[in-house]
Amino acid sequence: MNATATTSRRVARTFRGQPTSDGAGVKLTRVIGQRDLDMLDPFLLLDEFRSDQAGDYLAGFPNHPHRGFETVTYMLAGRMRHGDNQGNSGLLTSGSVQWMTAGRGIVHSEMPEQENGLMAGFQLWVNLPAKDKMSAPRYQDIAPERIPVVDAADGVRVRVIAGRYGETTGPVSGIAIDPLYLDVELAPGARMAATIPSGHSAFAYVYEGAADLGPAETAQRIARGEIAVLDRIGEELLVTAGDAPTRLILVAGRPLNEPVARYGPFVMNTPEQIVEAIRDYQSGKF
Ligand code: CO
Repeated sequence: MNATATTSRRVARTFRGQPTSDGAGVKLTRVIGQRDLDMLDPFLLLDEFRSDQAGDYLAGFPNHPHRGFETVTYMLAGRMRHGDNQGNSGLLTSGSVQWMTAGRGIVHSEMPEQENGLMAGFQLWVNLPAKDKMSAPRYQDIAPERIPVVDAADGVRVRVIAGRYGETTGPVSGIAIDPLYLDVELAPGARMAATIPSGHSAFAYVYEGAADLGPAETAQRIARGEIAVLDRIGEELLVTAGDAPTRLILVAGRPLNEPVARYGPFVMNTPEQIVEAIRDYQSGKF
């Protein structure tokens, strides 16, 4: 075997997203942060929201706190109004991304700004290393036109939100876990390969169609609504679409390997820090 050859990632485990509700009663699919897949260091949670029934999303996410991690909202369809207790506000439109570093704490709301039609997208929670958990809050609000779209000739289209695909780098910057976040669209039967830094945790979530992931000998078919957790060895993932148009997100990041103390919207390293977070929130220090 050639020691310099690129090694391919394989699918280590697969899970199906679980229906649940959160906020003031928004229906969603919990992919990471569920019983069978509690977390995937450094990723704490992945929710998919997708409904054209207003009753599933209208209640939204009224004021709630976050401390110690980052929330990443990627809107595929619909409009969501964001506002926080420090005077920041903005409208997340179809195709936009908000990478919010909550740091030491914010209180914010995320409310639909539409009364009907399709609302679809993802929210990912990314842990912060211990040294950054009490940092100042920071927003990266990224309009759709700032997300590069790489059009490959062979029926592959890749939106580069964070990290690199080929020579293209995504607009998200300065994130501790050095993330990769790609939205991949494949024509039936189309193939692509993505580079993933060796040792980083990585997953693919299929949200349309189905795809075979991994080297041909051991490829696994992942259907819509399933997440594939990849093994940590290798620098490349091979993706082949099934016989229908296929879309998936491919996400990777450096694992933190630090203790996690988690209570709802607070994610710290020790139980004492959780008690402190609750106390700070209740006394209005966020
Ligand atoms: Co929130």
